[in-house]
Amino acid sequence: MERKKKVLLIFGTRPEAIKMAPLVKVLQADERFNAQVAVTAQHREMLDQVLDCFEITPDFDLNVMQPGQTLAEITSRALNGLQQIIAGQKPDLVLVHGDTTTTFAGALAAFYEQAPVGHVEAGLRTGDKYAPYPEEINRRLTGQLTDFHFAPTETARQNLLREGVAEDKIFVTGNTVIDALLQTVSKGCDLEQYLGAEVCHSINWEKKLVLLTCHRRENWGQPMHEIFSAIFQLARKLESAIEVIYPMHKNPLVREAARELMGAAPNIHLIEPLDYRPFAQLMSLSHLVVTDSGGMQEEAPALGKPVLVLRDVTERPEAVEAGTARLIGTKFQSVYDGIRFLLTNGEVYRQMAHAANPYGDGRAAQYIRDILVERL
Ligand code: UD1
Ligand code: UDP
Repeated sequence: MERKKKVLLIFGTRPEAIKMAPLVKVLQADERFNAQVAVTAQHREMLDQVLDCFEITPDFDLNVMQPGQTLAEITSRALNGLQQIIAGQKPDLVLVHGDTTTTFAGALAAFYEQAPVGHVEAGLRTGDKYAPYPEEINRRLTGQLTDFHFAPTETARQNLLREGVAEDKIFVTGNTVIDALLQTVSKGCDLEQYLGAEVCHSINWEKKLVLLTCHRRENWGQPMHEIFSAIFQLARKLESAIEVIYPMHKNPLVREAARELMGAAPNIHLIEPLDYRPFAQLMSLSHLVVTDSGGMQEEAPALGKPVLVLRDVTERPEAVEAGTARLIGTKFQSVYDGIRFLLTNGEVYRQMAHAANPYGDGRAAQYIRDILVERL
């Protein structure tokens, strides 16, 4: 019998974990592979929530997270730790995901050990070095180190071709986030169990739910100040019509700003990060999503929820083209007007609230496995 192919999957933050989970499951269930998981734990609590939800036990855990960590600190701790793991394990392939600092450090560590690299969610680009920061550069640098580019869409494939990546190294597979989302939503969940009775009863579920997330590094400071101020003013203005729910990112900088600027509105609920299962449930109950997250620009359209994106540029133009997402920037007035317009204009809302899924059919992980079977 042929030797099993040894694949090391590396991730470290919440979104990478959600998007790698389907692939971990598919590879671990397949006897042609020996699939191991190494986490940097660039995120700790938010990563552990996903590991629990998908029942993944890492083979290696570098536990690098520190409060207020700098980019250089994460990079150097992750790079050192991952190189040692790769040197010890000698995998046939290292798989990294997306555009975080863990992604880049994982690909670089693999290169130093001359292990082939597969990049899942390859080819996303804004063309702007600082937006998002540092993700645009992380994914470009990772692309330079990659042998197998798993592009979620044709647009991503075209981006890679334009940069000179050989055609036979690029595979359009869809995004594994759709696998994760569809598997999770189909399980359903009891929201009250996760939100707690107090929070659950403080929300008027008859009103329109606006689900908010916001954490990006380039939005820290003034942009986040303007975003939160605009949402506070709007929540006061439309108090009888909307409830805003914001599961706050664990970053203390983000939480302080949110509490200071939005804490006083009775219809804004600042809650802890939710496990993926209740979060997906909340997304499917919401009227609209307001976010600077990458992953939610992919998930919300699949659930037929309009997304207003708190950014000036996006590397996910497909949802905008499909008519379910709009960029509203980060300035007070554009955020205020952008959300208000959608909440008060029924026809525009109806046009945006259709299910569109440019990001795959929910079987991306299986396609990636099949490509690996053929090419490794
Ligand atoms: C990171 C990624 C970003 C991704 C985001 C998803 C980088 C540079 N950034 O940004 O691409 O979109 O994750 O959320 O790779 N913290 C905790 N507990 C946690 C997680 C974070 O306390 O479980 C706090 C810590 O103080 C940490 C800080 O948040 O220092 C920032 O975490 P970090 O991973 O550096 O940046 P993110 O903004 O989360
Ligand atoms: N998410 C979650 N719980 C929350 C908020 C978000 O499970 O409380 C999920 C969300 O559905 C998406 C991912 O986390 O799949 C997005 O992660 P994040 O916002 O941390 O990162 P980004 O998408 O911006 O990289």
